[in-house]
Amino acid sequence: MNAPFHALVVRQQDGQAHAALETLTAGQLSPGEVTLRTRYAGMNYKDCLSLLGKARIISSYPRIPGIEAVGEVIASEDAAFSPGDAVLVHGFQTGIDFDGGLSEVMRVPARHLQRVPEGLTPRQAAIIGVPGFTAAMALERFEAWGLQPGDGPIAVTGAGGAVGRLAIHILSRAGYRVAALTRDLAQTDALRALGASDVLDACLALAPPRPLEKARFAAAIDNVGGSTLAWLLRSMQDGGLVASVGNAAGNTFDGSVLPFIMRRVHLFGIVANATWEERLRLWHKLAQDWAPDFAALAPDVHEIRLGDVLAHAQRQLAGATSGRTLVAFGEAA
Ligand SMILES: NC(=O)c1ccc[n+]([C@@H]2O[C@H](COP(=O)([O-])OP(=O)(O)OC[C@H]3O[C@@H](n4cnc5c(N)ncnc54)[C@H](OP(=O)(O)O)[C@@H]3O)[C@@H](O)[C@H]2O)c1
Repeated sequence: MNAPFHALVVRQQDGQAHAALETLTAGQLSPGEVTLRTRYAGMNYKDCLSLLGKARIISSYPRIPGIEAVGEVIASEDAAFSPGDAVLVHGFQTGIDFDGGLSEVMRVPARHLQRVPEGLTPRQAAIIGVPGFTAAMALERFEAWGLQPGDGPIAVTGAGGAVGRLAIHILSRAGYRVAALTRDLAQTDALRALGASDVLDACLALAPPRPLEKARFAAAIDNVGGSTLAWLLRSMQDGGLVASVGNAAGNTFDGSVLPFIMRRVHLFGIVANATWEERLRLWHKLAQDWAPDFAALAPDVHEIRLGDVLAHAQRQLAGATSGRTLVAFGEAA
């Protein structure tokens, strides 16, 4: 329990955040009743911002980023968990207010932890992670509004990223036609292999705006924000549903009210930091009816080691990575 281990720690110096690989012991981690040996952490866009000090995400320093992880319990002061349990954690300010997954050992409050759902291996749960959970939240909201596969295609922007690829795959397996928007058309074959029916050049969204565009989509998952979100709103069919998930291209957008008052378009936000009721329900679906075909996802899943994370984060923020990247620990790699 007191054995030293490695973690990526972000410290603040002169108002600037710096991340470095450090050697720690468990007593230096933020408090939690359950100690884990981390098996996988996911590389999320938000983690890259934290690691490189590009946005104020971490609440107080020093902090280990990593908003999601899958691990094995090695000690527990809470009767709900025992050594050997395969568990996952995401949300609950993990990697923000609490030390996160970019560490060989984690201490997690028991109230933040859940078992890896039955039907998934730890690695499969890690592949789904926050991106798959986020896509499932959007799909559940669409269906709660009454969306059905026959209503029309669902657009997915930032299609080459982790949320984009998992969304394409999960939506297509649920029976929907998916139109993938990407800046990198070299990914066309890969996106089609995941289930995209159409692959569109993301430049479409950058053309000079018209009051309304051709009504193409019944729903949309937007990972990009900025003018792409404005274009999506103008491109929805009557009653179209737009889930705003991400901001890879920016936080602000210029829009008009016309999509809302001429086509009854609905715009809503997704926050993956779900309630326990939503978590258990959606993880069950992701392990059963909405489970990915992991063989089909395999070419899109990349593994790196803790020592590679900072260089990877630079590339991911520059939009030079694609698919789902897991940080694999110990024998997991
Ligand atoms: N709301 C939530 O709870 C939640 C949960 C998870 C993620 N997110 C957010 O969702 C977004 C996507 O996350 P992710 O994990 O998929 O990130 P990611 O793996 O880094 O992928 C982002 C994708 O967006 C596109 N992109 C990147 N920079 C862009 C730019 N400047 N202009 C236009 N497109 C750009 C790229 O797709 P192409 O190369 O295909 O164009 C890239 O692959 C992020 O903003 C993230 O913070 C939100």
